[in-house]
Amino acid sequence: METETILVDRNVNKEETYSQAVEMLQTGEVVAFPTETVYGLGADATNAEAVAKIFAAKGRPADNPLIVHVDSKESALNYVQNVGPKAIQCMETFWPGALTLILQTKPGVFAENVTASLSTVGIRVPNHPVALNLLKRVKLPIAAPSANTSGKPSPTLAEHVYHDMEGTIPLILDGGATMIGIESTVLDMTSEPPVILRPGKITKKDLEAVIGTVRLSSEIQGNIPKSPGMKYIHYAPEAPVYLIEKTDGLIEKAIAHVQNDGKKVAILSSEKHPSADYCFPLSEETLYASLRKCDQTDADLILAAISADANRSEAMMNRLEKAADHKWFS
Ligand code: TXA
Ligand code: MG
Repeated sequence: METETILVDRNVNKEETYSQAVEMLQTGEVVAFPTETVYGLGADATNAEAVAKIFAAKGRPADNPLIVHVDSKESALNYVQNVGPKAIQCMETFWPGALTLILQTKPGVFAENVTASLSTVGIRVPNHPVALNLLKRVKLPIAAPSANTSGKPSPTLAEHVYHDMEGTIPLILDGGATMIGIESTVLDMTSEPPVILRPGKITKKDLEAVIGTVRLSSEIQGNIPKSPGMKYIHYAPEAPVYLIEKTDGLIEKAIAHVQNDGKKVAILSSEKHPSADYCFPLSEETLYASLRKCDQTDADLILAAISADANRSEAMMNRLEKAADHKWFS
């Protein structure tokens, strides 16, 4: 069934907009809102029917659990149990912020489809005025995955959400461009030492400075993905993406090679490549918007320029490897 989707400007009728959004959430509707990482597709985490609408809108597999958003550490503690001192330290240091903690849920507090029937839940306090305002007013835990169609790049602008969700959800709150541009770090606090299931802006180093040793799930041998979402194709634009090393004119050679085959190439890079048909910026903040821009071109192939720099962003590499399905141009 087609729904009319309203996209509201952040500066227009603030009070009225929040009341409308709160009422929709409290009556089981889905509302998209900005967080500091990416836009989220929110619904009442205690209402299974409301949560089912999120899965339907995204086309998300039911075995991929959602992150629950709350307004404070105190609220979070109403929903989770067996919270150790390290988890408390993380909450106190990084919340509000881009860190999702996997903790044991109290039985029966969330609708089962939020956690995909796991006994754990991903929970965080977002650091964005619109999200926080909404959470404070609604007085409910809000389940919110990234507001993109499943498999597509996450939305960093309200227009991205509109593109994916028009006709499917009733309301999108426009908060402008998200600040971080890449999803939160997911840290599993039910393992010892804790394990980073999804890298993000808050790094292993940031976490270790506060709670000591932390492991990266990608470094654990024979690791079966514990974050159910990690096994699916992600962040992928229409044209195939290849990673390419930023060395010795390799990119220029690749561009010529593709163009010789009569094909068009888009480059994602922190540098300019005038010989490419299209060139879009590559950084944590611009990654998703650039992947989406590729979809608006007739490029047959996308090359993402990767430096061998040891300081390169772990989070960005993680998303790019998935977008490229680990393919390197050679
Ligand atoms: O920055 C973010 O985290 C954004 C904004 C909207 O807050 N949300 C987001 O949600 O990225 P989503 O649903 O797209 O990603 C949730 C990730 C998935 O990889 C999922 O598998 C994992 O968190 N996850 C959720 N609950 C989990 C659990 N109980 N155990 C392990 N992984 C879990
Ligand atoms: Mg997502």
